Parts: sequence; structure tokens; C-alpha cells
Amino acid sequence: MSQPGVTISSPFRSDVLRGRRALVTGGTSGIGYEIARQLGLHGAAVTVMGRREAVAASASAALRAEGIDARHSVGDVRKGDSVAAAIATAVGPTGRLDVLVNCAAGNFLAPAEALSANGFRTVMEIDASGVFNTSRAAFDALKRDNWSESAAARTDSAVIINISATLQYGATWYQTHASAAKAAIDSVTRSLGLEWGHYGIRVVGIAPGPIRDTAGLTKLVPGMEESVAQAVPILRMGEKADIALTCVWLASSAGTYVTGETVVVDGGQWLWKPPIAPREMVLQMSRGVESKSRGVGTAAPKSKL
Ligand code: COA
Repeated sequence: MSQPGVTISSPFRSDVLRGRRALVTGGTSGIGYEIARQLGLHGAAVTVMGRREAVAASASAALRAEGIDARHSVGDVRKGDSVAAAIATAVGPTGRLDVLVNCAAGNFLAPAEALSANGFRTVMEIDASGVFNTSRAAFDALKRDNWSESAAARTDSAVIINISATLQYGATWYQTHASAAKAAIDSVTRSLGLEWGHYGIRVVGIAPGPIRDTAGLTKLVPGMEESVAQAVPILRMGEKADIALTCVWLASSAGTYVTGETVVVDGGQWLWKPPIAPREMVLQMSRGVESKSRGVGTAAPKSKL
């Protein structure tokens, strides 16, 4: 039986991103779509980019049906002309882009000995090269003129948000390709955060945990949703809104001093390990050990520690 979802409501005013223009790669479905939706519901004009024409068109229509200023661009983040077209669509007549969310990604389970060089390269190219290609191509639209000259202007930064993961923090079975790609993304986040702050561009990451009702969950832990939720310290699966509202925070004025950092949004899942013993047993055992070491009942000297 799959876990029922919880409702995550926005604590933000609906105009916190008014006047902002955003591009979300991989924004036509899944987590990316919810990111585009929440950016739009908080006032941003959004462009979603994806590979499938029909899916992209229906995503932007659904966003517009909610009153969001939305459009779509069809393309692949591995291709320079696709990326350029998406940026041109997103900037509109202003030529300016405020928010770039790099969410396009590819993954599948494969034991390393069954993973071809092309399989490894494909995921590296979509995830890691895709993040760099899109960020680099959007640089001129994102950079703030006179950032280094005018102190007064230094809160109006643009932001790149790279959607990462936690699987690369240790090691994860059957995902050598995605693990390498996400590690590269985190490195790009830090390097661009260092280099592009000077231009008024913040570069941050979000590392989602297991998110309910996504292709990632279906593809990577098929039929194991319940056991996955039990291995989350806060005992629930994430919602797409958990990630999308973190994007709203990072893109808003509340995020303007955050750069180079990847925020883990996973309910503590990557920290999880099985308890060494049940809680009740530890409580009993621990008291017993303390009593013995203090020599209760044997008139042993009291510890001075
Ligand atoms: N196991 C092992 N190898 C696989 C694989 C799998 N499940 N799926 C694809 N590959 C390999 C292919 O065999 C191919 O290598 P080869 O030429 O040596 O045979 C290589 O990966 C490229 O596959 P291809 O299908 O041509 O790439 P694509 O660009 O069309 O698709 C994927 C990219 C494979 C990542 C595809 O799953 C995808 O587009 N996913 C998007 C959605 C997604 O995965 N989201 C993230 C969910 S966690």
C-alpha cells in the first residue's frame, strides 16, 4: 500500500517573485514541473524545457490554467541550440533571466559491470554537462550590470539552482553513473558560486531525498516505497512541494546571502542507519550499566567525572 501524501503549504506571499523570469530545465514533468508551478504561483514568469513536445505543451497549458505566465521550449540540455532557444524563450523582450533551475536529469539502475561506456557518458552529459552548458549559455542573461560598482544594487541577484542528490555522499548501489554526475554537479555549484558572485549570480543546489510520485522513485526503488519511508528519520516520503518551496526560498530575497551551497531536503534520509538496539532496551540497559559502574549497593567510590 503506498503512503498517503501530506500537504505542504506555502509560507510565502504570492508576489515574492513578481517581476522575475525563470527557466526550469526538465520542468515539463515531475519535480521540475512542481518547481515551475511554485515559482509561477509566487509571481515569476516561467519557461519549462523538456524533450517531448506534447508533454511540454501540456505542461505550459496546465500552468497557464492556474493563472501563471508560462511558456515552453522543446529541446535537450546536451544540445547547444536547444539550450539557446530555451533561454531566448525565457528572457522575453527584457533579455534578462533571474532564475535558472537545472532540473533535467537521466538515471537508471545498472550494475557497474553491465553499464556501457555510453550509458555512463549519457548520464554524465545530461546531468553534469547539461548543468554547465545551460548555466554558461545563460550567463549573459543572468549577470547583473554594475554589481561590483554599486553596493546598493547588491541584493538583486540572479540565481542558478542545481537539482542534485545525496547518493554520491557515500556510495550507492547500481548508480555509478548518476553518483559521478551528481558529485560533479555539486562541484560546479561551488565553483560557479565562487566565480560568479562577482557578477551578481548566486549558484546553489538542492539535494532531494525520496520524493513521492516521481519517475525517480518508480525507476530506482520500484515497489519499495514503504520501506524507503521507514528509512527516513522524520518518517515520511518527501513531496514535490518540499523541493519546489525550497526553490522559492532560495530564489526570494530571503536567499540572497546563500551561494555555493547545496541544501539537503530529505527528511534526514541520507543520515539514516539502523538503530543498534531498540530504544526501550537502550534506556534499560544504559541505566543498568551506569548503576554497575557507580557500584550501587557495593559502596564503591563515586565518580568524580
Ligand atoms: N541499463 C543499462 N544501460 C542503459 C539503461 C539501463 N536501464 N538505459 C539506457 N542505458 C544505456 C543504453 O544502453 C545506451 O548505451 P549503449 O549505446 O552502450 O547501449 C546509453 O545508456 C544511452 O541510452 P539511450 O536510450 O540512447 O539514451 P537517451 O538519451 O535516449 O536516454 C536515459 C537517456 C537513458 C537516461 C533515459 O532513461 C532518459 O532519458 N531518462 C529521462 C528520465 C529520467 O531518467 N529521469 C530521472 C529519473 S531518476
